[in-house]
Amino acid sequence: MRASVIAHKDFTVSEIDDRVYGAFLEHLGRAIYTGIYEPDHPTADKDGMRGDVAQLVRDLNIPMVRYPGGNFVSAYNWEDGIGPREKRPTRLDLAWHTSDSNAVGVHEFAAWCDTVGTKMMLAINLGSRGLDEARNFVEYVNGPTGSYWGDLRKSNGRTDPWDVKLWCLGNEMDGPWQVGHKTADEYGRLASETAKTLRAFDKSLELIVCGSSHSNMPTYPDWERTVLEHTYDSVDHISLHMYFANREKNTANYLALNEKLDAYIGTVASTIEFVRAKKRSKHKVYISFDEWNVWYHSNQADRKVLDGNDGWPHAPRLLEDIYNFEDVLQVGCIINTFIRRSDVVKLACIAQLVNVIAPIMTDPKGAAWRQTTYYPYYFASRFGRGVALDLQVQSPGYDAEVADNVPYVDISGVYDEAARTLTFFAVNRHGSETIETDIALHGFGAGQIIDHQVMTHTDLEAVNTASTPEAVAPKKGSGASVADGKLTVRLLPYSYQMIRVKV
Ligand code: AHR
Repeated sequence: MRASVIAHKDFTVSEIDDRVYGAFLEHLGRAIYTGIYEPDHPTADKDGMRGDVAQLVRDLNIPMVRYPGGNFVSAYNWEDGIGPREKRPTRLDLAWHTSDSNAVGVHEFAAWCDTVGTKMMLAINLGSRGLDEARNFVEYVNGPTGSYWGDLRKSNGRTDPWDVKLWCLGNEMDGPWQVGHKTADEYGRLASETAKTLRAFDKSLELIVCGSSHSNMPTYPDWERTVLEHTYDSVDHISLHMYFANREKNTANYLALNEKLDAYIGTVASTIEFVRAKKRSKHKVYISFDEWNVWYHSNQADRKVLDGNDGWPHAPRLLEDIYNFEDVLQVGCIINTFIRRSDVVKLACIAQLVNVIAPIMTDPKGAAWRQTTYYPYYFASRFGRGVALDLQVQSPGYDAEVADNVPYVDISGVYDEAARTLTFFAVNRHGSETIETDIALHGFGAGQIIDHQVMTHTDLEAVNTASTPEAVAPKKGSGASVADGKLTVRLLPYSYQMIRVKV
């Protein structure tokens, strides 16, 4: 099989906002406790944070991490997580039927962000709480000393404000499962008043209003329209979420799901433009895809805890999806979609980062290792920065449940002008055919391959575990070449590849 692609230096989509490579950590299962925080772990630092996990996170070069939820945030009292640890209350977490010691709160999370070289993106509880707690939290985090909240922060050990720019106005407020779920009008009003109040404190905050929890929601896409009609000029991003599953064990359908993601982004981008026109506004609102990932492997195992049959356990195993090789291809396709839609998607967070539907797994008191899906995220975050190219792709395709003529080759291209590098991320969705792919490089000058990484496996269900942490891992590719302005690469059946060219 053959495919051809044209990459032209002047045909671009947009500068990619680095923040599309963000991540998410929730007080859920073992994401925090025995994930990033485990004071009696051999690698723990003075704050009780695991050094082995911190290193794996640091390697990912993550621009920001959304915290503390998720569904958890909708019944969370941020004040429970400040002050002396021994005085912090243990609370029941109504979202996941667990309990939380509050040993980690905003101070500990902020210090961890410094350790791993990332920034905080904080979510506000607009479920069980409202405007007053929101403004108090923002003032506590960002306010000057000499005021009540700033002084309280200082007395808890942090003098300088953290200057957090990104604030999520609640989480999945369209979802009936959410504590404090609201109609679009109810939420739109509350979000609008909250945004106005937070802006009275600091105009430069970047505010994210809740869009749909997924595109099968009965309220989608009217939800976006209504919420934006209430909030348009006072917010910067609208949040979307989507999780991917292969319950039917149909790889072709599964790997076509990013077509649905692309349509979802397109619809919400149009809705944004519709409301913008209606408002006669110059202001631009973008998409924050602040929860995305594969999530289905653990659904059955989680029922016992979620149904309350285990009482209120602290940090149980929950949402511990063990990712396989097939999921590498899926994550590669998802990230390619964000790169291709970088004109409208400016923020995104892989959900989540450690243990809970995560690229990094840990054993309590034991090892930390990379899941299979760590790698496509790693490569994109490290090398997918620059300008997204508007590639012209001709590839044979197939009909799937969500779309027809889905191209077997899913590809994105990024040009980093300063580093003079061109990076392509490609997935071959065909299970038995190698696809000989030519990429015509126009306007870049002569080029040479500087890196070629390939992920492929004979078993789509192969996984990494503590005892076989490298069972699915990238290998150096061979055979790609550049000559006469053309990059030629063989895309092996069911493979993920990254090809980097110095130009
Ligand atoms: O990431 C797991 C959960 O998925 C989040 O808590 C929630 O926002 C979404 O439904």
